[in-house]
Amino acid sequence: MGVRDLISIRDLGKKDIESFLSEASRMEKLLTKPKHLLSGKIIASMFFEASTRTNMSFQTAAKRLGGKLLTFYPSISSAAKGESLADTIRMMDGYVDAIVLRHPYEGAARFAADLAEHPVINAGDGGNQHPTQTLIDLYTIKKLKGKIQGLKVTLMGDLKHARAMRSLLYGLSMFGAEVALASPPSLAMDQDIISEVKSKFGAEPVQSQKAELKDCDVLYVCRIQKERFPDQYEAEKMQRDFRVDLELLSHADESMAILHPLPKVDEIPPEVDSDPRAKYFEQAKNGVPVRMAVLNKCINGR
Ligand code: NCD
Repeated sequence: MGVRDLISIRDLGKKDIESFLSEASRMEKLLTKPKHLLSGKIIASMFFEASTRTNMSFQTAAKRLGGKLLTFYPSISSAAKGESLADTIRMMDGYVDAIVLRHPYEGAARFAADLAEHPVINAGDGGNQHPTQTLIDLYTIKKLKGKIQGLKVTLMGDLKHARAMRSLLYGLSMFGAEVALASPPSLAMDQDIISEVKSKFGAEPVQSQKAELKDCDVLYVCRIQKERFPDQYEAEKMQRDFRVDLELLSHADESMAILHPLPKVDEIPPEVDSDPRAKYFEQAKNGVPVRMAVLNKCINGR
């Protein structure tokens, strides 16, 4: 397959995604057996925005494959003196074999990939794309439900600003899931993304303000993306009004899976964590084999 950089879920066809998922499942079976697929390789971890799971699971994945990490800290690097992203990328590209980049600007990963000779993996560019999260989500759904086609999946939360939701709507539509979009109107998914999945995949996402959980197979929640709101007061107000609690979940099937890219803030209260339907920590754990597959494919072409 032709993947070298991984910038947007749009760059992948169904076959590419299936190949990532089957490679991830192979990696999961071998997780703790020493492997040397990245031995002699150095991977730069460049996070210009906060991260726990994406950064830590990429680092774990690289280490499990025998690779070495070079961590870039924006606040104590020359980025803090005003060095441009272009110069920083050109220079890092000369030191390492691959770059994992998270940046607040939409398009930053594509920009970096155009400059770098080595593979660039998008770990999130502003509110735009988060392709490796979508691979984890599809992997998790397939593992839990045995398929994606025909599943009823509700995406709920800040669909306007969350890159994980934008990428996921595309991935789910490609695989024929029936997607419902639940958000307050001011946080609705951009119409151009909805039009795109309609015209490309014949998807028909249903939009509503409240999640209808009857017969829902997967409820995928995300937090209010406070850092992308122009008005913090508005973000805090939205955050207070938005909760997936046990009362709401009492309307859902026993077999429904609750997923979340995490971090969760107030939208899922801690008592939901012990509900057997809550699968988000399992989902986060799947980040390691999926990112092992991503690193191996992007760096070694396998
Ligand atoms: C997400 C992100 O950074 O987009 N987190 C993640 O990578 N698991 C979701 C979020 O921050 O809400």
